[in-house]
Amino acid sequence: MDWIPVYTPYLRGNVFAYVNECLTTGWISSRGEFIDRFERAFEAFSGAPAATSVANGTVALHLALVALGIGPGDEVIVPSFTYIASVNTILQAGATPVYADSLEATLQVDPAAIRRAVTPRTRAVMAVHLYGHPCEMDAIVGICRDHDLLLVEDCAEAFGSRWKGRHVGTFGDAATFSFFGNKTITTGEGGMVVARDPAVMARARHLKSQGQSPTREYWHDVLAYNYRMTNIEAAIGLSQIELADEILAGKRRIAAAYRAGLAGLPLRTHDPVGEIDHSYWMCSVILNEPAAREPLRDHLRQCGVDTRPFFPPAHLMPHSRADGSFPVAASLSQRGINLPSFPALTAAQIDYICRTIADYFHQQS
Ligand SMILES: Cc1ncc(COP(=O)(O)O)c(C=O)c1O
Repeated sequence: MDWIPVYTPYLRGNVFAYVNECLTTGWISSRGEFIDRFERAFEAFSGAPAATSVANGTVALHLALVALGIGPGDEVIVPSFTYIASVNTILQAGATPVYADSLEATLQVDPAAIRRAVTPRTRAVMAVHLYGHPCEMDAIVGICRDHDLLLVEDCAEAFGSRWKGRHVGTFGDAATFSFFGNKTITTGEGGMVVARDPAVMARARHLKSQGQSPTREYWHDVLAYNYRMTNIEAAIGLSQIELADEILAGKRRIAAAYRAGLAGLPLRTHDPVGEIDHSYWMCSVILNEPAAREPLRDHLRQCGVDTRPFFPPAHLMPHSRADGSFPVAASLSQRGINLPSFPALTAAQIDYICRTIADYFHQQS
């Protein structure tokens, strides 16, 4: 069996025609028709009222926070168990991350822990829909209402995920997406900001493009950024949106095959809990015993299968360290493995991966 990577982008359909159109017309920077076409297609797919494309999912978060007016003196509640960009952008906005623990079953932030973390300085909650499973949005929206907090959804890993039929990213005051090469839909590097309030969206659009005055050339009325996406990236993104249903169906097929193929082993798959659509950005397993994680990953590597470990908790990293106990985050981060999850993975490859995992456990017993 050839090497099986964790991810490889699904570049099919109109991608070559659209990118060629950018090259032949010369529209290769951040102006051109694909920007608008991609943003409108994204709004139509997600149900978001307004979307603006940006250079990646990290600057999307930073832009969303700044456009909402979050800054020094503000606390933002965020799970410790997340990718570091969620936390870094809170720090970069000048605010303070306050960590909440996660739920073992879903891997998502625990609403009860969010409630306990609220202080008079809390300004916002950042809900991160990790590995494609939505957070408990009814509870989180309720907490934000009760305490008059802004809600930011980090949907970098959750394109195609739905809570009670509604796409993630449509619950918050603002939400962000990533289109890195390993994301469910990709633009190479890229991201999207969505916002409910037209004034917040207008601020995001203004800030992402150097704060350019709409009425006076080369006049910039605020300290701002160049966070723009290129037309080539948007051309790739449009072709990906056209394939979104096919990609998501492929991921659901893969997750179901892993669930069946790994049944009975000392681990569990990351299954949907509640009335949700799991987009399976990553198909993950959570081992019963943390000690098995690295030996199993070594075994898979030797057999030609790439994997990733779960994210280490942000509260333990040098620049974002915080006191406090986040036992579920700490435990999950030691027991989780992301398996190959790309939509073109074949049934034979999945069968081989499952057998390789089963062999490891049988050798141990
Ligand atoms: C949860 C989360 N937030 C933010 C990001 C940042 O996105 P990007 O890599 O596009 O900057 C990622 C990227 O993987 C992510 O997983």
